Amino acid sequence: MAADAIPKTQFASDNTAGMCPEVMEAYVRANQGSLPSYGDDALTERAANRFRELFETDCDVFFVFNGTAANALALATCCKSYHSVICYEHAHIVVAECGAPEFFSNGAKVIGAPGVNGKLTPASIVSIADKCVDLHYHKPRAISLTQCTELSTVYQLEELREIRGVAARFKLLTHMDGARFANSVAALNVAPKAVTWEAGVKVLCFGGTKLGMANTEAVIFFDRALASEFEYRCKQAGQLASKMRFHAAAWLAMLESGTWLKHAQHANRCAALLALRLKTEANLTPAFPIEANGVFVNLPKNLEQGLHDRGWVFYNFAEGVARLMCSWQTMEADINAFVADVVDLQEKQ
Ligand SMILES: Cc1ncc(COP(=O)(O)O)c(C=O)c1O
Repeated sequence: MAADAIPKTQFASDNTAGMCPEVMEAYVRANQGSLPSYGDDALTERAANRFRELFETDCDVFFVFNGTAANALALATCCKSYHSVICYEHAHIVVAECGAPEFFSNGAKVIGAPGVNGKLTPASIVSIADKCVDLHYHKPRAISLTQCTELSTVYQLEELREIRGVAARFKLLTHMDGARFANSVAALNVAPKAVTWEAGVKVLCFGGTKLGMANTEAVIFFDRALASEFEYRCKQAGQLASKMRFHAAAWLAMLESGTWLKHAQHANRCAALLALRLKTEANLTPAFPIEANGVFVNLPKNLEQGLHDRGWVFYNFAEGVARLMCSWQTMEADINAFVADVVDLQEKQ
């Protein structure tokens, strides 16, 4: 490939996509003159207010550079060093954050529990909370739900209600890893408050990167007492942006025009189309329900290798299933090209 050629759109992850045009334009607009640093600017204030409008409540809003920091700092705020966090066994916080939640909380333990289609169940939470009752265990303090999940499934309102009941029974706080929160709202077609504070969520990490931004995530505290001194945690962790206006500008571009939902709906539609085409044209059945912007499928090894040889990049996720992610950038032509290669390889193999 020539050095200046545009690489083809991949299904490897929704973070292999670049920034969406709305965000690029917002950066240019925000790049005028001098503005106060570290969040004391008017854009940051405006962005926080847009989140309050979106969630229809008076929440506290902070911006960090990536999802690991958002989760780790939010959980560190919820937990003392002897606490534990219960999450699904393949949750990002337990398998893909290099121990950051434990590190930033000075020792709180993240405990993975089995689930169904990527989701914690009330029973799996109870199995951990019931067991960890004496002082030789870490004391259960929080539940972490990934919405939508690492397997691209979505907690339904009824499931969140049931989990809320368990959280109340064991006095657990609920943290939501919303790296793909927008995709879950698009999938459920509900008001954002219904899946967050109305469902008992105390702190949400709302992902921007996978949605079409470069490097910004919002940490949103619905329990404002938890937000106390959070800016110090951000600073200590190297997550307090001095040019905060660019975090804010990117979010404003997403929130003030409904772009966040438009891109999430688009990505979800692409995943549904990809899954349908793989089923009807290549007889490949999704391994998990198609609910958001990811498709998981079992590929025979030679087919997987053939696709890689043709330049397609994707990864095997939990249980060895290929994960294909769609984003704001995915186009029908990308789906056509991928499915055509699958079918062609099947015919030749
Ligand atoms: C479920 C989930 N949470 C959080 C993250 C954030 O990770 P990062 O620190 O790479 O932004 C990711 C990224 O892959 C993710 O999939």
